[in-house]
Amino acid sequence: MALKRQAEPEPISGCPRHVAIIMDGNGRWATKRGRPRLFGHHAGARRVREVLEACPHIGVEYLTIFAFSTENWKRTQVEVAGLMTLFRRYITRETSALVASGVRVRFIGDRVRLEETLTRMMTNLENATAHNSRVNLTIAINYGGRDEVARATKRLAEDVAAGTLKPGDINEETLPRYLDTFVLPDPDLVIRTSGEARISNFLLWQSAYSEYEFVDTLWPDFTRAEFESLCTSYGERDRRYGGVKA
Ligand code: FPP
Repeated sequence: MALKRQAEPEPISGCPRHVAIIMDGNGRWATKRGRPRLFGHHAGARRVREVLEACPHIGVEYLTIFAFSTENWKRTQVEVAGLMTLFRRYITRETSALVASGVRVRFIGDRVRLEETLTRMMTNLENATAHNSRVNLTIAINYGGRDEVARATKRLAEDVAAGTLKPGDINEETLPRYLDTFVLPDPDLVIRTSGEARISNFLLWQSAYSEYEFVDTLWPDFTRAEFESLCTSYGERDRRYGGVKA
């Protein structure tokens, strides 16, 4: 019997250019099935591919996903180690498909606390996809918005001390150049799955004017159809950035 194939996604009018996702609910999804939490993370990793594949067809140029926060170190050693193994496995398994399908991969977050094998693999993947431009995938690992602003401020202060930046030149244009996301546009739409309505330290500076969607679906159940539907709803919204309707 032939495999059932989903129809190719169609371009969406007013599609968000940059979508950021807080992929929440993996643990609950696994617990509901009587399985260990890591089982949910593995199922969640498979959803990343499905959502990413839809992006260039519907008009999303940038997809940013929250894979591991600066607070996630508080989880059990088994879960943390399992997630690190999952990231390494994801890079190993997905590299050739990402290169071939025109995805440019970047990582944000503080790499200092990550094991060297993983950071080397992250850098290799960034280099291997550096010439791609069809869609941009940014993966946040050991990322926290406050930590990012603190690290940025430290570098900025170093430039001031070195005399390469004047205090009077620090403004909303210059400060973001020190953030991990300096080459990315701000997210237009931030999606959080699993029914929690919090932003959990994700892209704090960058999401100042983002639209938010909090959906009940647990991340491993999140489908391409739901992603497309949220992008369609975004296209129907009226964004004013603090101004008034024309
Ligand atoms: C939150 O769910 C999810 C995480 C902390 C990990 C997200 C990681 C993945 C989906 C792995 C895939 C990513 C890549 C790039 C391979 P939770 O564990 O907090 O769920 P819960 O709230 O139900 O406990």
